Amino acid sequence: MKATKATPASTAPATFPGLVVRDKNPENLEFPFASLNSAVTPNEQFFIRSHFPVPKVNARSWRLHIEGMVERPLDLCYEDLAEFQRHSVSATLECAGNSRIFLHPKVGGLQWELGAVGNAQWSGVPLAAVLERAGLKPGAVEVVLEGADSGEIKKEPVSPGKIHYARGLPMAKALDPDVILATHMNGESLPVAHGFPLRAVVPDWYGMASVKWLTRILVSDRDFRGYFESSDYTFWKQSDGLPIQLLPVGEVEVKAQIARPALREVVAAESVYRVHGAAWTGNSVVTRVEVSTNGGRSWKDAHLLGDSVRHAWRLWEYHWKTPAKPGPCVLMARATDARGRVQPMQRDTHRGTYMVTHVQPIEVEVRKAKGSQPDQDSYAI
Ligand code: MTE
Repeated sequence: MKATKATPASTAPATFPGLVVRDKNPENLEFPFASLNSAVTPNEQFFIRSHFPVPKVNARSWRLHIEGMVERPLDLCYEDLAEFQRHSVSATLECAGNSRIFLHPKVGGLQWELGAVGNAQWSGVPLAAVLERAGLKPGAVEVVLEGADSGEIKKEPVSPGKIHYARGLPMAKALDPDVILATHMNGESLPVAHGFPLRAVVPDWYGMASVKWLTRILVSDRDFRGYFESSDYTFWKQSDGLPIQLLPVGEVEVKAQIARPALREVVAAESVYRVHGAAWTGNSVVTRVEVSTNGGRSWKDAHLLGDSVRHAWRLWEYHWKTPAKPGPCVLMARATDARGRVQPMQRDTHRGTYMVTHVQPIEVEVRKAKGSQPDQDSYAI
């Protein structure tokens, strides 16, 4: 009888190291960005950002109420959603606090590294189709999305007692055909932590707009000034000659992140190393990613992989001929989008604790190779 050969450990498929715990209760979990190896983030690898404990939602008794400035208030059950046209979008969700750990001086909030971001295929019904069925009344300007989860926030900024998670969308954005109420994520029923049975997916906006565990849609005749857009998730902006003003965080800024090498990775001297990562932006497409391997003194174009997909991140790579001389090297990546926006080198302090998109230095150590450098899987696009 022929003996079956055991697969040597070194050639076994790479296993996912698991999500990084930033908070246990409620669960806030980060994707280890150095593990990035596909354009679609598998559901079990997708970061989780929840302000309150996961609400108990029973799909059978669950209802979605649509009310306020509408001609026909609706009360939809899960099966009713099947009556609407279905729509899918491939969209990157980045938490507005992603990369916060890199801020100096240190700021409050969850200390995310690079992994409060992911890209998935979301499917469900367009929010616009539901609003159309309800019929918007003249004067309707804002759509407030409310989740079933609630709690009291005791850290600054404290909440006024117990509140529900809620966020408002200006009407123009709410009617964007790619803003969907999603029932599925990457072809599977929405996982509980990601908002089962129904969540909003608001492409091109930071993740806080994509309200999970949706139970109420309230159409309003004025701007909504809820906790999550006036106390939290805000930034300062000075423009059009106006005095500085506090605005809600909304649209995503252009950004590239390096997955490998990771910070402090040891890289073999005189070798070709595949530097790789992802880049994304809001309401535009990434047109260029540049890489510096000398701390920003000079830049070379990275190769953009696959096709450009609206709302989704773009993977990229750069083959780096590592120096012969051992020692530290500082890598950087910087993205540009079709609107001409380029990642800044310096932090804009008006952004407070959010929208961390200035170029980050990734320090690595080049060493004379004793053996071969670790295997790097190629992308599945
Ligand atoms: N929706 C509800 N109901 N409750 C929340 O705490 N967090 C928001 C958003 N939607 C949140 C929510 C934030 S800040 C982000 S970044 C995204 O959900 C994260 O989505 P995910 O957990 O599916 O990755």
